[in-house]
Amino acid sequence: MSNITETTSHLSPIMRVMQFAARKASRNLLRDFGEVEHLQVARKGPADFVSKADKKSEETIIENLQRDRPGYSFLAEEGGEIIGSDKTHRFIIDPLDGTTNFLHGIPHFAISIALEREIDGNPKELVAGVIYNPITDEMFFAEKGKGAFLNDGTRGGADRRLRPGKRDIFQDSLFATGIPFLGRPGHAKFLKELHQVMGHSSGVRRMGSAALDLAWTAAGRYDGFWERGLAVWDIAAGVLIAQEAGLKVESVTGGDVLETGDIIVTNEALYKQLMERVA
Ligand code: IPD
Ligand code: CA
Ligand code: CA
Repeated sequence: MSNITETTSHLSPIMRVMQFAARKASRNLLRDFGEVEHLQVARKGPADFVSKADKKSEETIIENLQRDRPGYSFLAEEGGEIIGSDKTHRFIIDPLDGTTNFLHGIPHFAISIALEREIDGNPKELVAGVIYNPITDEMFFAEKGKGAFLNDGTRGGADRRLRPGKRDIFQDSLFATGIPFLGRPGHAKFLKELHQVMGHSSGVRRMGSAALDLAWTAAGRYDGFWERGLAVWDIAAGVLIAQEAGLKVESVTGGDVLETGDIIVTNEALYKQLMERVA
């Protein structure tokens, strides 16, 4: 841990460990992102290259976390489950969220790492989350009960506390979503939802990274976000960050959002108005 920068010294030990792992993995991702545009005519094609970049990022994250928290368990998008000697702690990792953007040379993607913990046999709860955008050097992070923050390297490296956006008029609000694509279900349902939202709001964005959609909603850039059928690694860190920023995070279809993956996030004022349009 010797090469953790000065500016992270105020963070809790686990937050330092998670941010360090994300920053480490991001160096490879950035290097690979720089290569991607030259690969359009390469033999195996860019998709293969990106899938290697994705796996390399995951390996780096896991290596670092395993060194600093030996025994913890893992659920990672590429490699699946690793059951550690400590089953009460589990990291949930998306090593590259926004793969399609990455593949197309679009600079909007992130690394997402969450930690969940089980205490005294109670259901597991999210206790820490980081979402790191290597392109903008924005680190969004939260710990249970401690609030959500953004560090973008400006302001002398100070963390900025994230608070829920104050907008309460639907017409003035900007929303983010995910559009289902080839191989994903729910195309017709999505078009109905979009129709309900687009005609009554300031607009709808589809940027291609659910992790950043959540982080940006927590930062008040969007007034709300909804998407169906997401995986737990897409949203685990973002759910905690949004909750700790003071937003309402629910499952559109009821039940536990980490299980359904059907997510809706807004401030209290807009919640009902968005929910009735997308449920
Ligand atoms: C995807 C992104 C995207 C969402 C997809 C996810 P990936 O994750 O989060 O925004 O719409 O459903 O699969 O594949 O880039 O890690
Ligand atoms: Ca993802
Ligand atoms: Ca991914």
